[in-house]
Amino acid sequence: MAESMQGLKRTHRCGELSAANVGETVTIMGWVQKNRNKGGLVFVDVRDRSGIIQVVCEEGKTDPALLEKAASLRAEYVVSFVGTVARRSGAVNDKIATGEIEIIPSELRILSVSLTPPFQVEENSKTKEEVRLKYRFLDLRRPDLQRNLMMKSQVMTLTRQFFAEEGFIEIETPMLGKTTPEGARDYLVPSRIHPGSFYGLPQSPQLYKQLLMCSGFDRYIQIARCFRDEDLRADRQPEFTQIDMELSFVDVDDVIDVNERYLAKLFKDVMNIDVQLPIQRMTWQEAMDRFGSDKPDLRFGMELTDVTDVVRGCGFGVFTGAIENGGSVRGINAQGLCSSMTRKDVDACADFAKSCGAKGLAYAMLKEDGSVTSSFFKFLSEEKIAALKEKLGAKAGDVLFFVADADDMLVKTVLGSLRVYLADKYSLYDKSKFDFLWVVDFPLLEYDKEEGRYVAVHHPFTSAKVEDIPLLDSDPLKVRANAYDMVINGQEAGGGSIRIHDCKMQSKIFSLLGLTDEQISEKFGFFVDAFKYGAPPHGGLAFGLDRLVMIITGTDNIKDVIAFPKVQNASCLMTGAPSEVDEKQLAELALEIEKK
Ligand code: AMO
Ligand code: AMP
Repeated sequence: MAESMQGLKRTHRCGELSAANVGETVTIMGWVQKNRNKGGLVFVDVRDRSGIIQVVCEEGKTDPALLEKAASLRAEYVVSFVGTVARRSGAVNDKIATGEIEIIPSELRILSVSLTPPFQVEENSKTKEEVRLKYRFLDLRRPDLQRNLMMKSQVMTLTRQFFAEEGFIEIETPMLGKTTPEGARDYLVPSRIHPGSFYGLPQSPQLYKQLLMCSGFDRYIQIARCFRDEDLRADRQPEFTQIDMELSFVDVDDVIDVNERYLAKLFKDVMNIDVQLPIQRMTWQEAMDRFGSDKPDLRFGMELTDVTDVVRGCGFGVFTGAIENGGSVRGINAQGLCSSMTRKDVDACADFAKSCGAKGLAYAMLKEDGSVTSSFFKFLSEEKIAALKEKLGAKAGDVLFFVADADDMLVKTVLGSLRVYLADKYSLYDKSKFDFLWVVDFPLLEYDKEEGRYVAVHHPFTSAKVEDIPLLDSDPLKVRANAYDMVINGQEAGGGSIRIHDCKMQSKIFSLLGLTDEQISEKFGFFVDAFKYGAPPHGGLAFGLDRLVMIITGTDNIKDVIAFPKVQNASCLMTGAPSEVDEKQLAELALEIEKK
């Protein structure tokens, strides 16, 4: 039977105690981390969210009943100790913050017992993720996860404070909304009262926040839950949180200014990192040309080099074929990597490039001794080889990689991904460094071959740069948008744009996107209407809160910063969601499930 805590009041969290408390009588409550019985000497480590403290019971000094009770404790029992803080009689443990002290107990209560846990509660657990997620309530006792979630809480508090001081108003927007075509698939909620009709859960509060600008709120902020039914990755969850904002009477510089001051405060306050303001900006075009990515990590080099002109007519069919078909040949120089790479490693690079869509990867390993192993030098003249090496600044010890394709964008993105793959695999950058970058001037539109129409790169409410508006009629793919992304260490931490506030322009964009007048009024009628009654110029941005906290805590797994995350197939291993519902519930919703 568990004992009552009646009459006891916790005086301190375990980790709050220090040498300053020596001599004080304290009451702690927490979980048994471990219990070492050394025959007449029992050490109990008690853990709570603040840390661990050691309690020592010793034959002759401790009441025999208490000693016996302490010896019976098992991992994850919930206990309370009353006792005196003393300097450690044994060696100081500098691995824990309370390592100089221990508690000499006068009372022990077992507040709750525990079954043997399926895994040990410990930092950097090696237990398989599936097991930990099934018992997430135990997993969340681990100090690393507790730190991450406490960090997230701190980020949210700081965010609210910062934006409140900047005049932002926090406004909630509905979860049960109208389904609208945005990037991903919507999660739908069937209506009982309107059989056959569905609410859509918001992919983001985009339309609502723009309407709030139309309503005159001027500066809006919300820590908003978003839902997207898309394929999950290490940095994506079906349900995630945005720091979502919108501002009236602003241009790109205004949105960037307030947000970079926010980032500087955030990184200073929670990590003591100084962010140099203004944060550098790079156009999307430059990012793609130099790094093959719209979210380049600038902590390492290996920039892309266009060698199309060098290899034109070189005699290597793969290269000349791509060029003849209107494509390009580009390369990267993995400087000094030759001695770290075997042929097998190079083959792994080729496999990686193919997994990114390349048809192949041409390479040249320039060994320190002057010899060369290359998949294609044999097709090239000495002059071409020399010109190619010169263009890439190659020297002995380097490995060169080339991709050729009729699709120039593919060439860039494959090499961009290979660049990151190599940097990660061969630790080519300082992981403790933080790199902040605004990527600006994204294209407004791209062409979706499958759908046979233009689609918005950011979203359909993004405005075009004024000087590019004439191109909307003549060359829509050349139009640049007033859109920007915040990239931290090669990850997209946030993004936004200045919006269209003119209803005629909005209609024009909708029709460029292939929406008929009927579809526009059916899907966005309320939105288009709002813009007929005086819409202020406005723009905004949303950070992925989970992504920001991932970057701050240094994890590459988004599940580490979400209390109850979903796994790859969008299910929750702890609750079993999603689950079947009973016939009665289906009948109420007028739904029938097709048996497959
Ligand atoms: P966007 O779609 O770029 O913009 O999203 C903004 C930021 O949200 C984060 N994010 C995600 N995080 C975790 N899991 C996901 N599935 C996921 N999807 C996105 C990213 C991203 O940068 N309404 C616009 C913003 C605006 O224009 O103001 C929007 O949602 O960090
Ligand atoms: P092959 O003549 O097909 O044996 O190709 C010779 C080399 O060119 C091999 O290393 C291939 O991987 C590489 N290669 C094939 N297609 C491409 C491509 N599209 N871009 C770059 N290299 C390629």
